[in-house]
Amino acid sequence: MAEEYNIAVIPGDGTGPEVVDEGIKVLETVAKKGDIQFQFSKYTIGGEHYLATGEILPDGIEEKLAEADAIFLGAIGHPDVKPGILEKGILLNLRFNMDQYINLRPVKLYEGVKTPIMDKGPDDIDFVVVRENTEGLYTGAGGCLKRGTPDEVAIQESINTRKGVERCIRFAFECCRKRNKAKKLTLCGKTNVLTYAFDLWERAFYAVAEEYPDIEADYAHVDAICMWMVKNPEWFDVIVTDNMFGDIITDLGAMIQGGMGIAAGGNINPEGISMFEPIGGSAPKYTGKQVINPVAAIMAAQLMLQTLGENLAAGWIEKAVMKVLREDIKDVGAGKMGHSTSEIGDLVAEYIENNF
Ligand code: IPM
Ligand code: MN
Repeated sequence: MAEEYNIAVIPGDGTGPEVVDEGIKVLETVAKKGDIQFQFSKYTIGGEHYLATGEILPDGIEEKLAEADAIFLGAIGHPDVKPGILEKGILLNLRFNMDQYINLRPVKLYEGVKTPIMDKGPDDIDFVVVRENTEGLYTGAGGCLKRGTPDEVAIQESINTRKGVERCIRFAFECCRKRNKAKKLTLCGKTNVLTYAFDLWERAFYAVAEEYPDIEADYAHVDAICMWMVKNPEWFDVIVTDNMFGDIITDLGAMIQGGMGIAAGGNINPEGISMFEPIGGSAPKYTGKQVINPVAAIMAAQLMLQTLGENLAAGWIEKAVMKVLREDIKDVGAGKMGHSTSEIGDLVAEYIENNF
């Protein structure tokens, strides 16, 4: 019997719905070919919904999402909503409440895609960032005093628990073992300045490393990592880091792999429900224009299948995307592809249809 998955879809704002449509198109093609079935349930949340109703996360929606096998998210963000409301109220709340403690972000340069790094190619840029996704500076711990006065004070604290750090590090070692490439895991920290937080990270890292003698345990400061991601990206296999550093270095990663049109990520709860999204935002100025590259959303769907254990189907999607990037797309940037958003989805789907 075909494996059936319930996928909760949050198309969201701006160009989110356009790219999500292409992800679904590709998943439906995969379902026709393979022994898998998908039931998609759409949920209308995001900036548009908030402006219309005042609701951020409508009552009961988290219970509904909790019944899904995975969540597929387009983009959340609206130019008329003050920064922080939707990010914290939707995206971060879902990550935290569903305990999606890993943010997995592959940084892979595919053939046919331009990188701004001179003299580096697909053989050099192929690593994965494992970002802790429920702690650090993102917990909202802290506060302010005498706000708006000359005496104001603002404190924003980074929370790092041994349990949270250790489960993230263990996931990263497992991921490195599964990749079976250079078998090197780099801890990205700042042990020379953040002497409490990264002391904990470092001790947890080397303690867990004892369980993985087949993997080289490597360390670098976050600032040096930024330098090397540009100068020697081939040094990296898997990088593990905290929430804030992970946020920053994965934007750098997205740029060296060809930009926001390509980069996908997964908010993963290995024991629960995970949520997959293109890393880019809602790109309001491009809304409805069919100029955005849907590859990031399609690769988010690919990562979803991989996480669900559907490796064969995930492999088809990756191969199809690779072909389209190599042969059909002029440039990966918005409006420069030589095809519309939905034509790119068609090309990926057609390749799967005809080749597997
Ligand atoms: C990301 C985004 C989010 C983050 C924002 C929108 C809250 O930048 O997914 O990387 O900082 O995690
Ligand atoms: Mn980010």
